[in-house]
Amino acid sequence: MKLNIALLAGDGIGPEVIDQAVKVSNAVASKFGHEITWKPALTGATAIDAVGEPYPDETHEICKSSDAVLFGAIGHPKFDNDPSAKVRPEQGLLKMRKALGLFANVRPTFTFPSLLDKSPLKKERIEGTDLVFLRELTGGIYFGEKGRREEGETAYDNCVYTREEVKRLAKKGFELAMTRGKKLCCVDKANVLETSRLWRETVQAMEKDYPEVEVSYEFVDAVAMRLVQWPNSYDVLITENLFGDILTDEASVISGSMGLMPSASLGSDIGLFEPIHGSYPQAAGKNIANPMATVLSAAMMFENFSLHAEGKAIREVVNKALNEGMVTEDLADGGKSYGTSEVGDWLASNI
Ligand code: IPM
Ligand code: MN
Repeated sequence: MKLNIALLAGDGIGPEVIDQAVKVSNAVASKFGHEITWKPALTGATAIDAVGEPYPDETHEICKSSDAVLFGAIGHPKFDNDPSAKVRPEQGLLKMRKALGLFANVRPTFTFPSLLDKSPLKKERIEGTDLVFLRELTGGIYFGEKGRREEGETAYDNCVYTREEVKRLAKKGFELAMTRGKKLCCVDKANVLETSRLWRETVQAMEKDYPEVEVSYEFVDAVAMRLVQWPNSYDVLITENLFGDILTDEASVISGSMGLMPSASLGSDIGLFEPIHGSYPQAAGKNIANPMATVLSAAMMFENFSLHAEGKAIREVVNKALNEGMVTEDLADGGKSYGTSEVGDWLASNI
């Protein structure tokens, strides 16, 4: 297969972790007889510094003419403590999600047998956890009308959902549940929010089309608690944009390191694959960041092209590295650790 992949390294540790995912993907391509053309493009703070905006038209053109986008990370501290900044790196990611129609963010959480002791949660609670969040990605409070009064005393962010937006996300959720444990949890705040009542009503009306799927409805605050109490009781969880943002960071802790969790954003022909972690500016340029979440995002990318053996080869080599202690310092527990690029080289050469 010939693949054109837009490569958006972004900010902070983005370029370092992306390099490793490229190495591993190239190793997979040569093993399975594929040809990947990488097309680098600017995004985030890096793009603001270079051309004044976080998702330049040129980058969008490159993404649109590619088969998929592999993304590193976005964000820079110089913007975080400046509430008056008009242009922000994060706007680039939001604009890209919207422009590419990526309404479904797939965020799996699973445990690695060799890392059960790394999680802050007790082993017996997390053992066997294998859940997937489907986070709605182009609606809700992230994209509703925003405003700040001239006097600067009042600010608002509107949360808006249409039935159609809920339906298309829920449909993906039901379909995903059918390929897995056949359980679907709709996470909302229907005791308070009208948008949540629309979510619940819409999902309830779809239940009859998927009689084999066991559907539950839980409030987001309760899920925040149950997620760390009984993570292995969940299969597929669907939720709106902001709840999904928060809960997936929480869920990433279950696996032992945020540096391990990949994601896919889907909705149109062009998928976006990225680690769920941020740009980790303190580690930028130090060759210490864990590249595995980005490498596993590349596995999701292959799988989305129905190249399942290729995805599996990546997952297996990551497992092998974890079993053999070929890990960055976040997973080394003070023991021997390796640099970002050493881990990447090892993964690529063991494919
Ligand atoms: C994420 C990030 C983004 C989000 C930021 C960087 C805009 O936190 O992908 O989860 O909030 O969606
Ligand atoms: Mn987030």
